[in-house]
Amino acid sequence: MGKIVVAFDLYGTLLSTESIAKELASLFGQDKATSIAAVWRKYQLEYTWRLNSMKKYEDFSAVTRKALLHALAEHNVSLNDQDLNKLMQAYDSLSTFPDVNAALKRLEKNSSIDCVVFSNGTDKMVSNSVNGSEDLSSSVFKDMVTVESVQRYKPAPEVYHHLAEKVGKVGEMDTMWLVSGNPFDVTGARTVGMQAAWVDRAGNGWQDKLGLGPTVVVTSLEEAADAVEKHAGNAQ
Ligand SMILES: *[C@@H]1O[C@H](CO)[C@@H](O)[C@H](O)[C@H]1NC(C)=O
Ligand SMILES: *[C@@H]1O[C@H](CO)[C@@H](O)[C@H](O)[C@H]1NC(C)=O
Ligand SMILES: *[C@@H]1O[C@H](CO)[C@@H](O)[C@H](O)[C@H]1NC(C)=O
Ligand SMILES: *[C@@H]1O[C@H](CO)[C@@H](O)[C@H](O)[C@H]1NC(C)=O
Repeated sequence: MGKIVVAFDLYGTLLSTESIAKELASLFGQDKATSIAAVWRKYQLEYTWRLNSMKKYEDFSAVTRKALLHALAEHNVSLNDQDLNKLMQAYDSLSTFPDVNAALKRLEKNSSIDCVVFSNGTDKMVSNSVNGSEDLSSSVFKDMVTVESVQRYKPAPEVYHHLAEKVGKVGEMDTMWLVSGNPFDVTGARTVGMQAAWVDRAGNGWQDKLGLGPTVVVTSLEEAADAVEKHAGNAQ
């Protein structure tokens, strides 16, 4: 029986982007910052999906920066290069959600499970974020898999197949788990036959109407670890 691979989405799943929201608030005040952050996120996603549709690629740090400029323009504000760089650098020192490390340590002890980071960031952005986050116990990760060499973003199937290649699971998609807070990522993984735990920290329930839902819905990473071990145990 081969190992189970658990692939964790990074931003919004392991690492909280709260500190970026704070940085924005210090520049524009709370109300405007909340609105800018939401629009920034919207364009960040929209840009990656538009690039996928056009079969073009720009790396995630370029996408993130351009999405921010778009959000600022819509709010009739602008930033100098220094403040822009500061916001982008905030990605290198994000903090970990409180439920993350205990779950990772537990999975690290289980020899039939391998954990990897799986992100659409660039190699550099992801390793900076993982190494730069003081509190993330990063030793658990066997690999950091990004979309950089595929030049497509989630939820393009190529991205999940690339993960399978990197971890030696080609043709065994159902032995890989995605753990993600992003519904579109969950649906993308399920569509190519992976298992997926959707992390619903806000407790809103699954609302996405397009395609396949998650294998399990969890409210914390500890529950995700439980679900992976239990499900894999039953399958044996
Ligand atoms: C890309 O990955 C980042 C980091 O894991 C995540 O925050 C974002 O939701 C992802 N976006 C897309 C379009 O896949
Ligand atoms: C931005 O400015 C335009 C033109 O002055 C105005 O119509 C619009 O409402 C402003 N938008 C915001 C979000 O303040
Ligand atoms: C992050 O840590 C990994 C593993 O310790 C190392 O291979 C990588 O070079 C580091 N990346 C950066 C940007 O420091
Ligand atoms: C380790 O994970 C496997 C599933 O891959 C599970 O069957 C087993 O119970 C887990 N071991 C422990 C000690 O939880």
